[in-house]
Amino acid sequence: LKLTTVEEMEAATARLLETGAKVGADAWQLRVKNQTPHCKFGEQGVCCRICAMGPCRITPKAPRGICGCDVHGIVGRNYLKFTAGGAATHSDHGREICHTLYAAQPDGAYKVKDPEKLIRIAKEWGVETEGKDIYDLAHEMAETALMEYGKPFGVQRWLKRAPEHTQKLWHDAEIEPRAIDREVATSLHMTHMGCSSKPEALVRQSLRAGLADGWGGSMCGTEFSDVLFGTPKPIDTEANLGVMNADNVNIVVHGHDPSLSEMVCEYADDPEMIAYAKSMGAKGITVSGVCCTSNEVAMRRGIPMAGNFLQQENVVLTGACEAIVVDVQCIFPALGPLSKCFHTKFITTSPIAQMPDSDYIRFDVGTAAEKAKQIVKIACENFKNRKPDLVYIPDMKQKATVGYSLEALVKTLDGVTNSQVDVTGTTKPLIECITSGVIRGAVAMVGCNNPKIRPDYAHIELMKKLIANDIVVVASGCSAQAAAKAGLMDKAAKDLCGAGLKRVCELADIPPVLHMGSCVDISRMMVLVAELAKDSGLNISQLPVVGCAPEWMSEKAVSIGNYVVATGIDTFLGVDPYVAGSSEMGQWLTEGVRDWVEAAYTVETDIEKLVDKMIDRIEEKRTALGI
Ligand code: SF4
Ligand code: FE2
Repeated sequence: LKLTTVEEMEAATARLLETGAKVGADAWQLRVKNQTPHCKFGEQGVCCRICAMGPCRITPKAPRGICGCDVHGIVGRNYLKFTAGGAATHSDHGREICHTLYAAQPDGAYKVKDPEKLIRIAKEWGVETEGKDIYDLAHEMAETALMEYGKPFGVQRWLKRAPEHTQKLWHDAEIEPRAIDREVATSLHMTHMGCSSKPEALVRQSLRAGLADGWGGSMCGTEFSDVLFGTPKPIDTEANLGVMNADNVNIVVHGHDPSLSEMVCEYADDPEMIAYAKSMGAKGITVSGVCCTSNEVAMRRGIPMAGNFLQQENVVLTGACEAIVVDVQCIFPALGPLSKCFHTKFITTSPIAQMPDSDYIRFDVGTAAEKAKQIVKIACENFKNRKPDLVYIPDMKQKATVGYSLEALVKTLDGVTNSQVDVTGTTKPLIECITSGVIRGAVAMVGCNNPKIRPDYAHIELMKKLIANDIVVVASGCSAQAAAKAGLMDKAAKDLCGAGLKRVCELADIPPVLHMGSCVDISRMMVLVAELAKDSGLNISQLPVVGCAPEWMSEKAVSIGNYVVATGIDTFLGVDPYVAGSSEMGQWLTEGVRDWVEAAYTVETDIEKLVDKMIDRIEEKRTALGI
């Protein structure tokens, strides 16, 4: 196996930027220069503009805002607001999925593809399934899930999936999330002028809002996406810009909600549409993806991944993108003006993500089929507008096996145990591997790219070192795509592992970096650790497992970090979440929360040190267990 190096990816980007320069295109690389150095107050989180007496910024000479708020209150409020933004975003995505499920019909565009999973969740929730039509059940479950967003009493249903011990910690710390929307609203209430300015209270609510995401809205998103579109199973695909095909109509799906991308894939595969593409002079249609919606369709359909977050402009810069079709989240507004430099149609589809210089084709559940067909047609018709002298697709791609949902992972790992019947269908084979030391532990690698970190470099280098040290990696989001682009999701990457992990990869026929899905699918990782804890009789915090987001950038990532920590998993960040300005906030996040949830953050911007700290933490946990 020859990995694709970050240097090679950068060289390809440089070549694409030359095309960009020819047509007068802007690019994030240039905008970063214009924005550097960043505002120091913003960087440290010490600027407050939540009331119109301000903005106030804290300096040694001006230690308090006009209202008297100190730096810790300001940083703390900013942190909670940031979390609330992320929790709202993931959870609203989950809500959209519930609405899609509510609209599913046996003869409609959206169907129930995994009825077994639906029944399993219904039983878990105590909903009667006997003798019920599966679509009636789907609608009832969708409505029940939607109620989780606004129910006046009680806490999230999904919390019951956690080990008793974890549930008790949440209860005692008063961070069990109530209605999802309530936790977001409460966060915004708390951060309003004249409410909370005590770091402890702000951090507590940050964890609760995070949990409303991970053990609420995101879990709805993941679980009901599986019900609608199928629970992922291992499937082969490819990753990096070379998956685009110069002879074909290239449609790139970008964003997060599979309701759109699934439909686009469905129609791009329709013989009628392929014939239409041919009539326009193309040889066929290639759909590829960027960001999480790409992960969704890669996991379920093997649709190739063109790239991750900071490659979204590259897709257009190939000159071979007929349409970039987006739904919500992580979409650069830059795509509007950039697409105007090429023939590319930039198609926005969601009322939630509307952007200048785009063609807005509003997508909704009722008209999904019709709109998806329209979008595919527009792309086909745009093929003839391509400017051949601008076309350059870097010849760069890697094979990847993706689709390791928890269900798939458990099934796959049954192969590595001495196949005693009683352990199949559980995480016990994985526990055996960990306790015996064949695998030292696991790292959940998640999150975005961020120009503050050399893009993809941290993801790839950390993963290489982890697997070489017999630490298995589960990855999601743009981190997973970085791994796939490099070649780390090729089963042949087993050769980069230590002897123990290599053996497991061979026995189970898996790559050492396992693709668990999109960012909302970090909820899958939460259920995985919950199962590991239950099956091993340990607390989650005792497991030699840590989380890591080395290149994160979005509010969603902070929300995720909060629920991963709150679940009992030490979390390592490569970028500071704008809290450097407050020693008290730093203290709460890196130490204080441990008293409540048995885990905390580590922020380390030196990537070498970051990976060593993770390995040390895993070994410490092993030592504490005497394994
Ligand atoms: Fe300034 Fe206080 Fe208003 Fe913030 S809330 S802008 S610190 S006066
Ligand atoms: Fe994502």
